[in-house]
Amino acid sequence: MKLALKLLALLLVSVVMMSCRGQKSEDPPIRLHFNMNFQERFNAQQENPFFEDGMAMRMPVEGTIARGNLQHDTVLFAGLDDTGEFVNEIPFELTREFLNRGRERYDVFCQMCHGGTGDGQGIIMTGGYGYVPAPTFHSDNSRNMPDGEIYDAIANGIRNMPGYATQINVEDRWAIVAYVRALQASQNVRETEMERYEVDLAELRNLYEEEQLRLEALAAARAAGAGEEVSVERGERLYIQNACQACHSLDGRDGVGPTFLGLYGSERQFTDGTSAIADEEYLIESIVEPGARITVGYDNVMVPYTHLSESELKSLVEFIRSLADE
Ligand code: HEC
Ligand code: HEC
Repeated sequence: MKLALKLLALLLVSVVMMSCRGQKSEDPPIRLHFNMNFQERFNAQQENPFFEDGMAMRMPVEGTIARGNLQHDTVLFAGLDDTGEFVNEIPFELTREFLNRGRERYDVFCQMCHGGTGDGQGIIMTGGYGYVPAPTFHSDNSRNMPDGEIYDAIANGIRNMPGYATQINVEDRWAIVAYVRALQASQNVRETEMERYEVDLAELRNLYEEEQLRLEALAAARAAGAGEEVSVERGERLYIQNACQACHSLDGRDGVGPTFLGLYGSERQFTDGTSAIADEEYLIESIVEPGARITVGYDNVMVPYTHLSESELKSLVEFIRSLADE
């Protein structure tokens, strides 16, 4: 009898316990200990009247530096020396491994614009997608840039080129600088020095001439397909397609380059002390050979647009003429 009672009690308890399983309840769960489950808090972007500016999200106290973000070494992090000038050295040992890392990162992040050899002929530039042309690294301008300035261009961007700080870490930026230097050295060797290397100079010359012929043929084919029309409308399209607008405004605003508003027929002053009237001849020269005469107040950073046909150049001139002062 006693055993039967015990068994019955056991059965009852297990039925009661089992009946709890799998059932939903609208009531809040019973909490014996609250931990920090309930407390005042704010969502991102929410208002908080406690602060004068009414914002719940607060800026860090001025001068706060997150762990690991103390960038006191300006040479390493900014490419600048104590006086704020760009440094002319790479703060890493130039090992083969370091250079290879630079090459690998360069091919990922720079090559599509600046080209595999640094000649500015990357696939984005030669496809006619209307991007601001990337300069070659084989100009005196680029060769004379201090290492720190190239580092800075990678970290913070330069003129129309965006910065890559979020994608390329500090060490890799310097590795890329080292590789750009290697590219520059590789394309700027005197013929007399070439004898030290095991290269066939005659063959190199042939390759170079073949490449020039190929480029000329490409330009000729483009010019032939482009049509002969000369008009303001075509000039305006070319202005956009060739990304001139990235540096030249149409409304008088100053940019990387001078505005086109009122340019035609105006007197231009050059850094060599000479001056000229902006007529058709001058404008065409400025487009195909921008380094020939540099307008006072601007840097020599415009890339020569040598691929434009005659009718394209004339259309651009017509477009600029349409913006002349009355
Ligand atoms: C999307 C195309 C693009 C990519 C990718 C790119 N650049 Fe550039 N770069 C440009 C353009 C365009 C300019 C010229 C900007 C101007 O003059 O307004 C430029 C200018 C520069 C200059 C200044 C050169 C001079 O002579 O004034 C340096 C240095 C440079 N880039 C380095 C790099 C490096 C290193 C990388 C890779 C980390 C890189 N760029 C990636 C398009 C690019
Ligand atoms: C990366 C910026 C940039 C781009 C892109 C650019 N230019 Fe320029 N351009 C300049 C700068 C800077 C100058 C002034 C320095 C100089 O004289 O070379 C200039 C000068 C000129 C001048 C002479 C203006 C003067 O003050 O006498 C003309 C004309 C001109 N550009 C036309 C063009 C045309 C057309 C395009 C597009 C096919 C173009 N530029 C694309 C930067 C640029």
